[in-house]
Amino acid sequence: MWLTLFIAALAAFVVFKITLIRYRRRRYPEPHYDWSQINTDDVSFPQGFHWGTATAAHQVEGLLSNNWTIHEVDKGLEQSGQACDHWNRWKDDFQLLSDLGITSYRCSIEWSRLEPEQGVWDDEALQTYSAMIDELLARNIRPILTLHHFSHPHWWEAKGGFADKENIATFVQYCERVFEALSDRVDTWITINEPTVFSTMGYGLGIFPPGRRSPRLTLRVMRHLMLAHARVYRSLKTKRPEAQIGLAKNVTLFDPHNRWSPIDWPLSRLLEWFWNGAWRSGITKGKMLFTKIPEAKRSLDFVGLNYYTHVLTGLSIGSLRKLKFPKREQEVATEFGYPMYAEGLRRAIEFLAPMGVPIEITENGVADADDSLRPEHLKRHLWVLSQAMKDGYNVRSYHHWSLMDNFEWAEGYSMRFGLYHVDFETQERTLRASGELYKQIISSN
Ligand code: FCB
Repeated sequence: MWLTLFIAALAAFVVFKITLIRYRRRRYPEPHYDWSQINTDDVSFPQGFHWGTATAAHQVEGLLSNNWTIHEVDKGLEQSGQACDHWNRWKDDFQLLSDLGITSYRCSIEWSRLEPEQGVWDDEALQTYSAMIDELLARNIRPILTLHHFSHPHWWEAKGGFADKENIATFVQYCERVFEALSDRVDTWITINEPTVFSTMGYGLGIFPPGRRSPRLTLRVMRHLMLAHARVYRSLKTKRPEAQIGLAKNVTLFDPHNRWSPIDWPLSRLLEWFWNGAWRSGITKGKMLFTKIPEAKRSLDFVGLNYYTHVLTGLSIGSLRKLKFPKREQEVATEFGYPMYAEGLRRAIEFLAPMGVPIEITENGVADADDSLRPEHLKRHLWVLSQAMKDGYNVRSYHHWSLMDNFEWAEGYSMRFGLYHVDFETQERTLRASGELYKQIISSN
């Protein structure tokens, strides 16, 4: 009798496990395509679709003094220094855009240049940004301006940056000033780049400035970023209602490394909610991380999608000090460590679609110094995008990260994301084979 009971219990357990796994597979699928069977050249994009590249001020301009330069020194990181010397070479760099056939260019404004000390404004710097806009428009390139891409003045950091709610007012004033100067020519604006990355890397993992490791601060900064975005959105919209204002969201997918594991699965659901879900609920419901932020509700005219990878979550990920990125057997690891997973672009689009606003792909690319993976990376992602658009998803643009190799934050110059190779000794730019490929794709679409 005990034996019968034992066998029955075992059978019930196995049936329960299988049902659970099948349920998870159906509800949270992790598709993998057989790429050998897919013709990635078979893509088509509608008239008016924008082809772009993206950069950020701190990564390309050079010779800045802001929260990042302080952090670079404090933590003994590689210093951004001259970066791509883009502040002096932007005219030539815009020729590189035209050479590729680019129709949309995403770049960012460096607050620390415009207001190096609180209340002291450098109008000449604003004039330079204004001249850049004119040059882009003369080349029939649509500018998309990001107002905050990870960097800000050190005086603002010293006052607590986004960790202190009081500081949001100064941030809004800076955004208003830029908007007043440039919105007669710039229609598309991004308030904040990757709020979850900024807060988690800066206040949770301590890898970005200000190098803190505090879960409490991380949550606080996440909420303040949402509030800051919402306030900037409301203010700019009253100045010019027809402006298109959004933010750039890094949608990283979290999949259980081991689908059988009672730890990996709930952990991946939790991270998925923290990283993506909480933020979406801020915008759709005006509620984020157990706090009401009513101003945030519907504070987007479009959503910028930065897509790079999925993270296989579980015990295998290592410690918070040393993250590891496992990969599936059929996946290729990129130089950054995480796997290439183009299938996830479709999932990221599906995740954002219920927000009911158009999607602009504001970043997608790969670190690949010898350009051996980038061509395939580009083709797969564009094929996935083309399929999604055929299925009716409203995506307006694709911006490749990045135009050229640049300062990759805590990784310094070791990670090369450019369509153009940059020799940082001579500042010479050279088109890579993937850049040539992108150019061809643009011209035939
Ligand atoms: C994104 C950042 C961008 C760049 C890419 C590789 O998270 O927004 O500045 O560093 O990663």
